Amino acid sequence: MVRNILDVVDLSVEEINDLIKLACDIINDPKAYSEKCRGKKLATLFFEPSTRTRLSFEAAMYELGGSVLGFSEAQSSSASKGESVADTARVVSCYADIIAMRHPKEGAPRVAADNASIPVINAGDGGHNHPTQTLTDLLTIYREKGRLNDFTIGFCGDLKFGRTVHSLINALSRYTGIKIVLISPEELKLPSYVKKDVLMAKGIPYVQTTDLESVMPELDILYMTRVQKERFFNEEDYLRLKDSYILNMKKLENAKKDLCILHPLPRVNEISREVDNDPRACYFKQVLNGKYIRMALMLTLLEEAAR
Ligand code: CP
Repeated sequence: MVRNILDVVDLSVEEINDLIKLACDIINDPKAYSEKCRGKKLATLFFEPSTRTRLSFEAAMYELGGSVLGFSEAQSSSASKGESVADTARVVSCYADIIAMRHPKEGAPRVAADNASIPVINAGDGGHNHPTQTLTDLLTIYREKGRLNDFTIGFCGDLKFGRTVHSLINALSRYTGIKIVLISPEELKLPSYVKKDVLMAKGIPYVQTTDLESVMPELDILYMTRVQKERFFNEEDYLRLKDSYILNMKKLENAKKDLCILHPLPRVNEISREVDNDPRACYFKQVLNGKYIRMALMLTLLEEAAR
């Protein structure tokens, strides 16, 4: 059965927990998985820039014994000559076993999935969704905290355009005992549809503030985000808002000793370098977890497709 992952809610909570367990097994015994995808090919179709997502997908497939083909910018594909996403997906299905696709347009991976004959994984579509980053975040929270329920998480920065924030809030809304603190400038608040359709609909307690320091003591997890320059229509607004929050050691003075600081990266300057050496900084561990959870996801989808 061909199965696509376009949104984190395409996976049940049970399936997410299974993926986390599989990722932990891979971490504990990578050799046992080093031949699992021998002969399989991953196509990475990246119409928008990426470092972590593309390279972690590629590293993941190599570590499973498979191989990789693809492109890292639209300009080096026939999209630059006007080929549609639908045709591209159909063509790539002739060469590969699974697709990871990033595209600036929301919904483009859905179009690819409707036209491909192999599994399609959304590797980020516009300001909409980034399900494998969410799986990465969940694996990191699980490894750092030992659980995926009963904590207070603060999301700080660009909550309007940050697709990783929307996806993670959606995923966490299915666990119990989650409290959410939304920290952003007025102009970059979480979209009302996420508040209405997810937080209010599921009865998740949340507060909104512009002041990071005032809420710092209550946070178990702090999820920092970059102000998404590429989604702004006017540079003046970006320049005014880009340094709204800069996390430094001073701001962490009142934080919990076991706070877990996450960031999907790339960062610009919203976390000072001095924070990197604090044991609470988990964002580079998060990067590594991204490879393992993508190994678990591709292995699972390819096994399902072979049934
Ligand atoms: N976190 C993330 O999606 O990073 P890249 O844009 O580098 O893939």
